[in-house]
Parts: sequence; C-alpha cells; structure tokens
Amino acid sequence: MFQNRRTILLFICSIVFVQALYYIVTLQVKHNQTRLINFPSIISYEQGSDIEKIIVQDIKNVTYFNNTSISKESIRELKSSVDDLISINFTKPDPIIYNSLPICNFSISNNDSSIYKVTINKDINPFNIIEKHHGFDLHIGGHWFPKTCQTEQRLAIIVCYRNREPHLKLFLDNIHPFLKQQQLDYTIFIVNQHGYEQFNRAMLFNVGVIEALKLYSFNCFIFHDVDLLPEDLRNVYKCGEKPRHMSVAVDKFHYRLLYSTLFGGVTAFSVSDFMGANGYPTIYWGWGGEDDDMYLRVVKKLKKSITRYPVSIARYKMIRTLNHTSGKPNPDRYTILYSKYNYDHDGLNTTNYKLHNIVFNKLYILINVTLKEESFEQIRMRLNIKKRETKKPIRKKKV
Ligand code: BGC
Repeated sequence: MFQNRRTILLFICSIVFVQALYYIVTLQVKHNQTRLINFPSIISYEQGSDIEKIIVQDIKNVTYFNNTSISKESIRELKSSVDDLISINFTKPDPIIYNSLPICNFSISNNDSSIYKVTINKDINPFNIIEKHHGFDLHIGGHWFPKTCQTEQRLAIIVCYRNREPHLKLFLDNIHPFLKQQQLDYTIFIVNQHGYEQFNRAMLFNVGVIEALKLYSFNCFIFHDVDLLPEDLRNVYKCGEKPRHMSVAVDKFHYRLLYSTLFGGVTAFSVSDFMGANGYPTIYWGWGGEDDDMYLRVVKKLKKSITRYPVSIARYKMIRTLNHTSGKPNPDRYTILYSKYNYDHDGLNTTNYKLHNIVFNKLYILINVTLKEESFEQIRMRLNIKKRETKKPIRKKKV
C-alpha cells in the first residue's frame, strides 16, 4: 500500500517536472524568436537571395543564425520574416488614417533667423550612443517619417563613403535631428566602396539610387558628402522643379561660392531629373571633375538650369582633418569634361558594380560594393574621346 503510494507520488512528480521542463524550453524558444523578429538591429543578406547567408544580429552584435547552425527550412522562414520586416519598414500606416492627416509643412515664417541656426554636435560618439540619441523613433535602416502629417516627398539621402568612420558618426549624429525637424520622410543610405580601386564618388551615387529604388519608391534624392553638416534649418532637404545645389556656402571656403557653376558637396534631384540626366558619370576616378560633369549634364542634357537657396541659408560646416586626406586629383578630368562625349553612353546605364551585401543598421542602410576601375585609355576608347592637352578652365569667380 505504502509502496504503491510512493510510486504514484513519484509518477505525479515526474509528470509535473517534465511539464515544467517543457514549459521552460518552449518559453525560451519563443523568447528567442520574439527577440529575433522584433528587435534585430542589423539584418544583412547577400545579393542573389542566397538564403543560407542571411545573418541577423541583435544589438550586442551576436550572430543568431548562419548557414551552419540552422536548417534550410528555418532559414526560409527567417528569410520571409526579414522580407516582411523590410517591407513593413517602408510602408506607411493604414492609408485611410494616413490620408486624413494634414500635409506636413515645415514653415519658415519667423523673421528672426537665429531660431533656425543649427547647434552642431561636435562630439564623436560611439554608434550605440548615437542610436540612443536618435534611434528610438527610427525604423530599421535609418528610415523616419512624421506620424502626425503626410509628407509630399520620399527622400533618399545617398552618401558616398570609404573608411571615414569618425566623419560618419558626426554626420549621423547631426543629420537625423535636422531632417526630423524638417518633417521629412527620409532614409539614409551609405554607399561604401570596398577594394583598392581609386574612389569614384559619382558612381557610388548611381549605385545608391539603383539599390534604393529596389526598396521603396523614392522620388527625391539628395547626394551628400559625409563631411558636410547643414547649419541652417531653412535649408530644406526637398526636391524642386530643377536640380538644386545645396552646399552653396561652406565654412572652409569662407561661406563663398568658389565659382558660379560649382555643383559639388550636396545636390538634390527629383527622380525624373536624375533619370533624365542619365545619372552621374562613372568615368571620374580619384578626386574631381564628376560634379562639374553633372552640372553640364543638367544644362546640356536636361536643358535646365540649377537652383540654389540664398547664401545666408545654404550654409555648411565641413568636418576637417580627423586623419583624412583626399584622393589624388584626376589629371585627365578636364579632358573628359570638355570632350563633349555623349552622356547617353555613360552614367546610370553603365554603372557596373559587385554588390557584396546590404546591411540594415538602425541609423542607416549600408550598401557595400566593389567597383571595377577603367583606365583613362579604356574610357577614351569607349567614349571616343580625343587626346588633348589637359588645361585648367578659366572660371568666373562668384563673390
Ligand atoms: C573640381 C571639382 C571640385 C572643385 C572645387 C574643381 O577643380 O573639378 O570636382 O568640386 O574644383 O574644389
């Protein structure tokens, strides 16, 4: 009898124990899944949807899954949740609610210009601190839009980049609050050139546009150097009827335009103007020339003029030094620039790159690419450019 009771008790205890164990294990699995799907700060995937290479990391940079530790079936499931997550991030709220909201209108009505002056944060903070500053209301990939009004444009900020982390940190820490105050629907893309080829600023901009348009129907592009920080809130990051040169007055150049056709630093293009110009040229390797070429494309191919905000508004601080040296000036840039080559034969339609991956960080989308450098001789042959002496043009100074 006593023996029997002990067996029953033991039996009940083991059932309770097994159930408790099962409960703990399933809770743990659920907990991990929730963390994985709701809070990843980094999602990256390889081009060509090689699903075995999806990596999802949490805030502490712990890799949860890679091709060795997970079955193909789970990777497939994970891939679809990553896809959902990406598309959700680029989708507006319920259209019925959204369409009833007023149009966002960042107004410049106050006569006191000092209230529009931006206080630039000059401290180089680690990324996790910058995330704390500005990440709380960002959608993954540095995407933000106002919740209380409808935006007219979908803006992609395309930043060309290579190995300038301190500049990137300062840029992100300053640009997010600036754009949020202007009530814009924006996303930040950092297009990073891997490899040892000479830097090609303009081709990176084209890559940014091509890849950005695969994610969302952006209709305004702002091409940005990573070392320029806007100083005035009235410098509104919107696209207009004409391409706009935004960085008119830079502190390094004593807030003066160097020459009347200068079109470097920061520029804004509607998607149709950018397509109409066949994008940026791809044939300027190293420093200089590509911005002047883009100016000529606007005038000669688009048959438009550029526009600018006044010098008192389009003001920028250039982040200097931090161990950065510019690339070598391209000795052939003027030969290409004034060769009258056909803009249909080079630009967005000849942008060749190897896409390594796209990483969805909290503060920005990182696009890692390698570009294939063409020699000047190859460029000359391809575009039928005649050999000529490289002469520096005489440019009208703007005061
Ligand atoms: C270069 C441009 C540059 C400008 C101002 C020109 O000589 O070709 O690319 O923006 O100088 O520095």
